[in-house]
Amino acid sequence: MADITLRVNGSEKKVSVASETPLLWVLRDTLELTGTKFGCGAGLCGACTVHVDGNPIRSCSTPVSQVAGKSVTTIEGLAASDGFAAGQLHILQAAWIGEEVPQCGYCQTGQIMSAAALLAKTPHPTDEQITAAMNGNLCRCGTYERIRKAIHWAADAAKHARREIAKIDNGEEHGSGGSQ
Ligand code: FES
Ligand code: FES
Repeated sequence: MADITLRVNGSEKKVSVASETPLLWVLRDTLELTGTKFGCGAGLCGACTVHVDGNPIRSCSTPVSQVAGKSVTTIEGLAASDGFAAGQLHILQAAWIGEEVPQCGYCQTGQIMSAAALLAKTPHPTDEQITAAMNGNLCRCGTYERIRKAIHWAADAAKHARREIAKIDNGEEHGSGGSQ
């Protein structure tokens, strides 16, 4: 057993586990963050995707000792990590609802975490960039086309929001309604 400290969703956590324990089981069993799912257990399906220092990793095949001292974000903390207020959905979660993406839902945590990592690096991805980034996330229900649409939906919404924020920052009026 080893005492390992990591930062999970913005809070420091100390766990006493065998150092080779997969991060997935520390998140699910020790920290009771069950939004991250177990699929293949072999790094092949993406259901267990979380972010470590902003990068998507497979938590089923990452020993917890490898993330000691690092910052882990799970689906439970995704919205807050991107600056959304407590209780608000992340823009990707809203897009997933808007495009009615999930079928059984099992793979969708991992899909959203991979999509969030993509948009953080490539705010307006092409279809090809989406395919490349999402390639390792499998969906046995075949929701791939809806996932692609939802990522475009979120990218467009974020672009619109950035434009509106820039207008406010520049002291421009919101909308075209004059000075009222
Ligand atoms: S459960 Fe981790 S990649 Fe499949
Ligand atoms: S929605 Fe069922 S596995 Fe993806």
